Amino acid sequence: MMKKLAGVLMAGVFSITALSAQKPVYLDDTKPLETRVEDALSRMTLEEKVAILHAQSKFSSPGVPRLGIPELWCTDGPLGVRPEVLWDEWEQAKWTNDSCTAFPALVCLAATWNPDVAREYGKSIGEEAAYRGKDVLLGPGVNIFRTPLCGRNFEYMGEDPYLAASMVVPYVQGVQSNGVSTCVKHFALNNNEVNRHTSNPIVDDRTLYEIYFPAFKAAADAGAWSFMGGYNLFRGEHASYNPILMNDVLKGEWGWDGAVISDWGAVHDTESAVKGGLDMEFGSWTDGLANGVSNAYDNYWLANPYLRGLKEGKYDMKTLDDKVRRVLRLTMRTSMNRNRSYGSMVSDEHRAACRRVGQEGIVLLKNEGNLLPINPDKHKKVAVIGENAIKMMVVGGGSSSLKAKYEVIPLDALKEQLAGKADVVYARGYVGDTSGEYNGVTTNQNLEDARSAAELTAEAVQVAKDADIVLFFGGLNKSNHQDAEDFDRLDYNLPYGQNELIETLYKANPNLVFVNVAGTAVAMPFAKKVPAIVQAWYGGSEAGNAVADVLTGAVNPSGKLPYTMYASLDQCGAHKLGAYPGTLTKDRFGNDMYDMPYNEGIYVGYRFIDKNKLKPGFPFGHGLSYTTFEYGKITADKGEITGDETITFTVPVTNKGDREGSETVQLYITDVKASVDRPAKELKGFSKVSLKPGETKNVSITVGKDALSYFDADKHQWVAEPGEFRAHAAASSGDIRSTVKFNYK
Ligand code: BGC
Repeated sequence: MMKKLAGVLMAGVFSITALSAQKPVYLDDTKPLETRVEDALSRMTLEEKVAILHAQSKFSSPGVPRLGIPELWCTDGPLGVRPEVLWDEWEQAKWTNDSCTAFPALVCLAATWNPDVAREYGKSIGEEAAYRGKDVLLGPGVNIFRTPLCGRNFEYMGEDPYLAASMVVPYVQGVQSNGVSTCVKHFALNNNEVNRHTSNPIVDDRTLYEIYFPAFKAAADAGAWSFMGGYNLFRGEHASYNPILMNDVLKGEWGWDGAVISDWGAVHDTESAVKGGLDMEFGSWTDGLANGVSNAYDNYWLANPYLRGLKEGKYDMKTLDDKVRRVLRLTMRTSMNRNRSYGSMVSDEHRAACRRVGQEGIVLLKNEGNLLPINPDKHKKVAVIGENAIKMMVVGGGSSSLKAKYEVIPLDALKEQLAGKADVVYARGYVGDTSGEYNGVTTNQNLEDARSAAELTAEAVQVAKDADIVLFFGGLNKSNHQDAEDFDRLDYNLPYGQNELIETLYKANPNLVFVNVAGTAVAMPFAKKVPAIVQAWYGGSEAGNAVADVLTGAVNPSGKLPYTMYASLDQCGAHKLGAYPGTLTKDRFGNDMYDMPYNEGIYVGYRFIDKNKLKPGFPFGHGLSYTTFEYGKITADKGEITGDETITFTVPVTNKGDREGSETVQLYITDVKASVDRPAKELKGFSKVSLKPGETKNVSITVGKDALSYFDADKHQWVAEPGEFRAHAAASSGDIRSTVKFNYK
C-alpha cells in the first residue's frame, strides 16, 4: 500500500516536473528577463510584433493573445488613478468602483522638499493603480517650470533641475515597487500648453543638459520602465519620436532599456515614428470605430502602414525587434509580474499619505506679526471668504482630472477643527468657475450664485469687518486658461477681480490672510500690505484638512517654493526676452509650427533673477515656519578636492522658537571664476530636518564634481573647471545664511 502511494506521489512529482520543464522560457520568471524577452520575441509573428506597438483601445494595447502575453493597461496619472472611459472614447464608462484617492498636485509634492514623502506618494498611488489593474501610470510629469503661464505647471515639479530630479526618483521607485510602471512625461520641452502640438522650442545643448534633461535623466537612471514623449516639436521633429531625444539621448547616451509611449494623438507619420525611437502609439483616434472604420487601431501609424512597410522592405526588422523587446520588457515588468502587488484603494494609509503631502507642501510665504496660526484666544470670529474655500478642485484641469472618493473642502475642515473654539462665518466674495464638471465627471456641487459682484463684495466686507481674522481663499482653479491642460493662462494676475477684492477686504480688516489655492506663480500686487500669505496648492482628497491643519497650527508649515514667485512677468526670462509663445512658421510637411527660441538659455527661474539682480515676489526655496531657525557657520571637511573626491559641508541649525518645526537647508554652489558664463549660484543639495524647540542639529550635505560642473556643448561632456568655488547654506535662493570657500583642482 505504502509502495503504491509512494508511486502515485512520485508520478505526481514527475508530472509537475515535466510540466515545468515544458513551461516556455518567456513564462518562466525564474529565468533572466532578457532571456524571457528573446524567447517571446522568437515565437511572435510579424503581425503580432506590430500589434503590440499600438493601442487597441483608448488606454490599452493588446498583448499577444495566442501566447498568453497579457494586455497593457495605462491610466492617467499623475495625481491619482483616472476613472474608466469607454473603449474607444474619452466618454466616461460610468463604472461605480473607479473612485480613487486624489493626491495633491505634484508641484505641492515638490514643495515638501522631502524625498521620503515622494516615495510614500509614489507607493500609495502605485497601490491604487495596481488595485485597479493598471500596468502603466501616465506620470509623473517633470517638465521644467519655464513660465508661470504654463497651464500644466501644477502637474510638474518646479523650476529647478536638481530639486525635480531629487523628487522624481523616489516617486518612480515608490510606484514601481508595486509592479506598476511609471511613464515619465513629457520628454522633452513640453513647457507650455499654448500651441502644444506645434511649438518648436529652439534650445541649445547646454540648456538641455543643465536645465531640461536632469529630472528625466534621473528618472531613467532610477529605472523608470516607460517614458512619454511630448506633443511639441524639437529641432523640427515631434518630440514623441524625435531621433535626438529618443534615440541619441534617452536610449543611446543614457542606455535606457524602457519603452517610449507617444502622448495621446502625438503621432503624425509612420516613417518618422519608426525611425525616431517611438515604441508604442496611443490615442491617434478618438472615435475611429464610430467613423465606420472596421478597426480604427489597424490604421494607426504604427499599425498596418508599418506592417506594409516592413513587408515591402521599407523598414528593417532590427528596428522593429528593438521596439518589440522594449514593449515585452515593459509587459514582463508589470502585467506579467506574478509577484506584483494586488494594491489597495482609498485606504487609511493613502488618506494619511495624501494629508501628509499637503501638510508638508503648503508654504507659509509671509506671516507679519505672527498673525498665523489662528489663535482662538484672540480670534473668536473667523471670516472665511472666497470661492476656493468651498470649491472642489479634483475635477478639471485635463488628463489629471479625477473621480475622487471624497474631497474635503477648506471651509468644512476649518469648521471642524475650530468647533467649540471660534465661530467660522463664510462669504463667497466672488464667483469664478461654477462648472464642476470635466469629461463627464461632476463634483455634484452647485456653485451658482446670481448675486452681482457689488453684492458679493458688500457681503464679504461686512463679514470681514465683524471678524477677528479674515482668511481669503482665492487663487486659480482648474478651468481653461488657468491651471489646466491644453491652455496657458492669458494673464499673470489673479482672475475674477481678486486683486481689487483683496484690497477692499484689507481696508475692512487688516488681519487678512491670503490663501492662494493655485498650482503656479501668480502676481500678488497686494503682497506688501497683506500680513499673511499661504501657498496652498491643490491638495486632492485631503485638501481642506491639510490647509486647516496649517492655518490652525495643528501642523507647523515646512513647505518651500519649488519655483520663483515673480513679482511681475518680466522678471521671468521666457517673457522678458520675448520668445513666448513663438513665431509662426511651417514644419517640413508644410504644417504650422511655432518657433520658440529659449533666449534665456540656462537662466530659468532664480538663475535669471540672480543674473539680473531682481527682487522677486518670493524667491525660489522660500518658506516660513511658525518657529524661526538660526543658521550657524557653514564649514567644509576639506579646503580642496580633486578628481572624483567628495566634499562635505556642515551647518548647525537651531530652532529658536517654542514649537517644533522642520527646516529645509539648501546648498547652493557658485563657481567663482569660470571660462563660460555661469549662474550666480545653483542648487546642488538640500536636507529637511525636524527640530524641537531650542534644539540644534548639524546638517551635512556631501557633493562631488557633478555639483561643480557645467555642460560643455562642444566637448559634449560635463566639465568641472579647476579653481575657487563657494558653497552657501541658505534658507532660500534669496536668503543665504553662510558661505564657505573651497577649491577644485
Ligand atoms: C496628455 C497626457 C496624458 C494623455 C492621456 C494627453 O493629452 O498630454 O499627459 O497622459 O493625454 O490622457
